[in-house]
Amino acid sequence: MTVPDSLTIRRPDDWHVHLRDGPVLAGVLPFTARQFARAIVMPNLSPPAVSVAEVAAYRDRIMTALPQGMDFTPLMTCYLTDASDPDEIERGATEGVFTAAKLYPAHATTNSTHGVTQIAAIRAVLERMEKIGLPLCVHGEATDPDIDVFDREAVFIERTLAPLIREMPGLKLVFEHITTAEAAEFVAISGENVAATITPQHLHINRNAMFAGGIRPHMYCLPVAKREHHRLALRKAATSGSAKFFLGTDSAPHARSAKESACGCAGIFNAPFALESYVAVFGEEHALDRFEAFASENGPRFYGLPLNQGTVTLRRDSFEVPERLDASGTELVPFHAGEQLGWRIAD
Ligand code: NCD
Ligand code: ZN
Repeated sequence: MTVPDSLTIRRPDDWHVHLRDGPVLAGVLPFTARQFARAIVMPNLSPPAVSVAEVAAYRDRIMTALPQGMDFTPLMTCYLTDASDPDEIERGATEGVFTAAKLYPAHATTNSTHGVTQIAAIRAVLERMEKIGLPLCVHGEATDPDIDVFDREAVFIERTLAPLIREMPGLKLVFEHITTAEAAEFVAISGENVAATITPQHLHINRNAMFAGGIRPHMYCLPVAKREHHRLALRKAATSGSAKFFLGTDSAPHARSAKESACGCAGIFNAPFALESYVAVFGEEHALDRFEAFASENGPRFYGLPLNQGTVTLRRDSFEVPERLDASGTELVPFHAGEQLGWRIAD
């Protein structure tokens, strides 16, 4: 098969991104808005965005930070806590503020201390979401400190996700940033109402990348990258043509100083070259014909939103990813820093 020199697809969306808040928001937002028409924006601010008013105010700050002339729509999520109220969640959905609600198991990741301690605490909320069709985005990791970090996703499926789906078979659920063969398999065999996002890093790296010649903080995110056979299973799922898998970068910027630290933050900043990174995988897997569905169709179909108008063109053109980028004065290290990528967005 000959490899095309360019690929034009319907404008894509990012179904999982961290845009942050305060000055750095204005710095990172254009990277996402340049690549994507819409994005599901994570609510793990400090303090988290839990109410309709807080999430609406965050959406306003994003729109204020958006440079003139950029066409981008943030799709907002609310952060579930043990105290979340079903009526408030339904109101957020009805008023068009919430596109989804986010389940962070307490202490699973960055700014998750206010997360849910046990599913029983949000049962009434989840029942309401099932009833009204509001999707639940799930950070799928068990948080018991006794569980090995590399097993946390698989254990979460067994202990939490499988029972939840049995109990609420109609709940629309996105298993986010999946990192294991177990997760890909679980999603594939679940009902139509269960889907997953896959990040660029989990398609490119396995856990060795964190230890290549020394500790590599910019390869660290949560859920952490796993063994090679998991990476291969994720590549297979992403390029399978199944409508259950779609693009979600989990771009999670942290200042270089906060990553390169004795206790470095989890998160990989992949927004600047996300499409270039994903398309490389589809090219390597001889699945360029399936890239548009993964990037631009499966997500909106799952969320019940219209497909985007307009297109984006990627051209075969090798370039080097910068070592550092500036986001309103915060120094960030992008994913693939210093590496060559073989596709570039045509302006
Ligand atoms: C995210 C962050 O920094 O907000 N970090 C990450 O490693 N992905 C949180 C998250 O999505 O787990
Ligand atoms: Zn995330």
